[in-house]
Amino acid sequence: MPKSAVCLKVPKKQGEVAIAFAAKLGLIDKGLSVGRDDEYLFVPLYRHPDETEFTAFTEKVPAVEVSVGSFEEKKPPQETLSQALEGKLPQELLEAVPQAFDIVGDIIIIEIPPKLKEYEHLIGESLLQTHRNIKVVLGKAGDISGVFRIRDYTFIAGEQRTSTVHREFGCTFHVDVGKAYFSPRLSHEHMRVATQVKTGEVVADLFAGVGPFAVLIGKQCPEAKVYAVDLNPEAVELLKVNVRVNRIEGHVFPICADAREIAKSQLRGVADHVIMNLPETAIDFVDAACNAIKPEGGIVHFYGFVRQPDTVEGLKQRFIEKVELCGRKVESFLAARSIRETAPFESQIVLDAQIW
Ligand SMILES: C[S@@+](CC[C@H](N)C(=O)[O-])C[C@H]1O[C@@H](n2cnc3c(N)ncnc32)[C@H](O)[C@@H]1O
Repeated sequence: MPKSAVCLKVPKKQGEVAIAFAAKLGLIDKGLSVGRDDEYLFVPLYRHPDETEFTAFTEKVPAVEVSVGSFEEKKPPQETLSQALEGKLPQELLEAVPQAFDIVGDIIIIEIPPKLKEYEHLIGESLLQTHRNIKVVLGKAGDISGVFRIRDYTFIAGEQRTSTVHREFGCTFHVDVGKAYFSPRLSHEHMRVATQVKTGEVVADLFAGVGPFAVLIGKQCPEAKVYAVDLNPEAVELLKVNVRVNRIEGHVFPICADAREIAKSQLRGVADHVIMNLPETAIDFVDAACNAIKPEGGIVHFYGFVRQPDTVEGLKQRFIEKVELCGRKVESFLAARSIRETAPFESQIVLDAQIW
């Protein structure tokens, strides 16, 4: 609700000086937003400046006027989860409350430590209270597992669903974390790979899930062709929806198939880029990437895990050996580095490999 307040009316060009001076005098009402029209700023004040203050103002900003205006109240800073739980949990447990969690659309996914299990509903309700856009709080109930790379969840608070709509870089993703893999943590990688795809190129996303790489590439580069493959029929159904809602039907093609099989047939020798985001076992599918890459070469964007004492160099070596077993060659690694820590002593690695 807008609130009426005394304010300084100053020409926009002198706004910065006026605001700095009003702040120095402690006059600005920080609970209200500064107003503006085409010419003036309206700076809300706690009180009318006295005569001395006003004279001082006019020396700095001759065109200043005191007026009355209507101002929007600023939203109070959001309470943190720990702040919301203060007094509701014993101090020693408060310290164990997770500081980090994933947000997918309007769902929070959190890992509740075993010692906080009996408080998980309270934690979930506090998350709903501190994150007004969130409607569902899910607890991780196991590791990502199986061929489809999904996990079980418990409903901790809010609505009982695992589906949502997530937005990333202007793309809309229909997601169901209970049925198909999706992680918001790789968004920078989705964009990094998408920016490498050029007009007229062909991309084979061999483990596409609901399409975070494929859809973004399709959106960013309408002149590229993207084949988006996944073995999980639920993932491919969501991918089809995502292709439709992002209006990229003409050049992004969802395919429900085994990556190895399709790379030997429909996708043999078609791709300038192959994306391999199946970090646990991608090394066993390097033959599929070699089959899909054009005879004249291309780039494989390969994701893997490295667990100490293994190293990025070790992974590069294993990758080179697999490529050579297919009768092809790694010309160079355009990128080879850790993109995030996934567990103590374990990182997720990306290799961008130029293959001939
Ligand atoms: C780690 S997820 C990555 C999904 C997606 N690229 C992303 O970033 O969200 C790996 C995906 O590979 C799919 N997958 C596993 N084995 C496969 C295979 N042999 N052929 C095609 N897809 C497979 C899984 O169903 C899963 O959706």
